[in-house]
Amino acid sequence: MRKKIVAGNWKMNKTFEEGLKLASEVVNMVKDEVKSDAGIVLCPPFIELHAVSKLVEGSKVALGAQNCHSKASGAFTGEVSVEMLKSVGAGYVILGHSERREYFNESNQFLAEKVNISLQNGLTPIFCCGETLSQREKGIHLDFVKSQLTESLFHLSESDFLKVVIAYEPIWAIGTGVTATTAQAQEMHAIIRDHIKSKYGAKVADATTILYGGSCKPDNAKELFACPDVDGGLIGGASLKARDFVDIVKSF
Ligand code: G3P
Repeated sequence: MRKKIVAGNWKMNKTFEEGLKLASEVVNMVKDEVKSDAGIVLCPPFIELHAVSKLVEGSKVALGAQNCHSKASGAFTGEVSVEMLKSVGAGYVILGHSERREYFNESNQFLAEKVNISLQNGLTPIFCCGETLSQREKGIHLDFVKSQLTESLFHLSESDFLKVVIAYEPIWAIGTGVTATTAQAQEMHAIIRDHIKSKYGAKVADATTILYGGSCKPDNAKELFACPDVDGGLIGGASLKARDFVDIVKSF
């Protein structure tokens, strides 16, 4: 049975104090209300990682970062290495988010390097893929998403690939309030799983967790998570309110 996960990507939101307040609220709600064994991950900005790691210690909540550098250390002003992330308690790292691909020109090849160094240091990549509205309208979205997986992940050994969490985030649904329909989400998740099967076989494909991201909210999470190939969500805006985020966690 593959792992179900709900991860909250806070993006560039919450000051230090606001972040600690949000994390505390989530941990307390999870303790009181969440009965499932779904994985729950908070991905705050770098400045809050260490303090939030102390708040989630001993709870069902794990900690993730929103990015890492592709090199172990060195003259990369402003960057953060995987070893630094591990040293403050991060277990997951979001890689290839469409906002980083767009604003920081992160290519599939560059992301393959980030996946490698994350796995080498024991971090679990949450690898993002997804198409633009224009690509979907042109009918090239399926091949585009498959190429993102092929170019960034398909060099991995079977055992390493099994450590990766995939997040399908249609770019046209991110932050827009326009959520993919369950048919659209299920179609792409099944295509992704089939593409993984073509490379690594059915066992690995069936064991791979594939999250949906893009305007996933408390009022649509249940139907999205009921799709056979949707194994949870990568949540943006709705992760910034503890009540909404935990309601999504409870949607399995
Ligand atoms: O990484 C998750 C994010 O891109 C989704 O954002 O606000 O549409 O839930 P949002």
